[in-house]
Amino acid sequence: MHRDHASLSVEHDPSTTLWHLVLIESTISFRNKKNQIVMATSIVNRSRRIFVKVLMDFGVLASLPFVSRPIAARPPEKTRPQADDLMVYAEGDRKGQLIQAADLQINAKPIAALPMEPVSSIIRAGSRLNKVMLVRLDTARLSSKTAKHGADGVLAYSSVCTHTGCDVNRWNDTTSRMVCSCHESEFEVADAARVVKGPAPKPLAMLPLKEVEGQLVVKSGFTRRVGFQQM
Ligand code: FES
Repeated sequence: MHRDHASLSVEHDPSTTLWHLVLIESTISFRNKKNQIVMATSIVNRSRRIFVKVLMDFGVLASLPFVSRPIAARPPEKTRPQADDLMVYAEGDRKGQLIQAADLQINAKPIAALPMEPVSSIIRAGSRLNKVMLVRLDTARLSSKTAKHGADGVLAYSSVCTHTGCDVNRWNDTTSRMVCSCHESEFEVADAARVVKGPAPKPLAMLPLKEVEGQLVVKSGFTRRVGFQQM
């Protein structure tokens, strides 16, 4: 009985009631502040999305250097060969002219060539990694993986040696091998430029070709990374 009385007197203690009121008021205030923060964050996020959209609509975003740099496309003259590129002479009297499949004779010295973008006629001469050597062999001599990337025996190999990057510019018509003049690496043309002699660690990259109405046309990109081992 004494305890019940004491308990009742605590429940009706004015200071306790005041404390409860303060606590309730603080909780409501905190919730209001939290709601305000959530609302403010939402408005900021929405505004930011609208701002970015406006910039994109007006092309402003793409022109900003810190945005455009990572997505900037490589210029066409430096871009690696693309499907449907045409092949042109890279040097000599006919430099820049289109190369026909009929220009290549079986087992004759390879022809230095570059790909050309077919619509703009831009020759991809901005990188030596785009230069290839065109050579024709009897299709009966080609390994299956070589034949499938050729156009009726016409094959295109990167001219950059996989050893230290010299031009592979010599031809042995007895063995039908391409030879690097720097350290004498030899590449088996009939078998996807397999290394048969010298320090080159890897075969030359191959550029798949097709023939369209007598024209040599790139079928797809290089079969492997172009360049030498340190690149
Ligand atoms: S760079 Fe070709 S063999 Fe060394």
